[in-house]
Amino acid sequence: MSKVLVSPSLLSADFAELATEMNKVTEAGADWLHVDVMDGHFVPNLTLGMPIIKSIKPYAKIPLDVHLMIDKPERYIEQFIDAGAQYLTLHVESTAELKSSLEKIRQLGCKPGITLRPKTSIESLKPFLNCVDLVLVMTVEPGFGGQSFMEDQVEKINILKKWRDQGLGSYLIEVDGGISAKTAPVCISAGADVLVAGSAVFRGEKTIDNYNNNILSLKK
Ligand code: DX5
Ligand code: ZN
Repeated sequence: MSKVLVSPSLLSADFAELATEMNKVTEAGADWLHVDVMDGHFVPNLTLGMPIIKSIKPYAKIPLDVHLMIDKPERYIEQFIDAGAQYLTLHVESTAELKSSLEKIRQLGCKPGITLRPKTSIESLKPFLNCVDLVLVMTVEPGFGGQSFMEDQVEKINILKKWRDQGLGSYLIEVDGGISAKTAPVCISAGADVLVAGSAVFRGEKTIDNYNNNILSLKK
């Protein structure tokens, strides 16, 4: 069994039963809970924001891993941290104030992360690696769950691992998009520490047993 962490994406959970779904995946062995925040502008979809994170926070027994897909996220950093984010990940394309935003996240006691769209060069993250605890590699175009894994993005995992070995930072490498029992091993062997998975975790019956099987199939 691999030591990889699994962060189920709540985007694929039943939103009418969010707290129950969170408890079930936690019992089933999830390590973190991934929360996808979309603003209908940075990506062509709208999901949820601070008030919902604040409401679900008391039910979260494991870290809330918040992925911001919004323009100018610097406007809301404090509010997301107050709401309960333990990891707060920003897109390199979403702000001209990335460095100061990452520093602010850390000052406020939260763990900063960075991420990039599939078409963005991994080189764009290099100046920020020593400011973050997490680097997220997107293996789908951000915006929707249930898309196909982009194999050509795996090289970014290799590069991030190499850069970390060279001392450019001490971040965890997380992968998000199209993760399944078939694609997880590719990410794990490239060096992924955390796998985000929406459809692969929440598919099938809404039972702890089924979620446990789904999570184990990613770690195997
Ligand atoms: C896509 C989101 C993902 C998404 C993953 O923009 O960042 O977290 O929910 O869903 P699956 O695992 O179904 O690809
Ligand atoms: Zn995500």
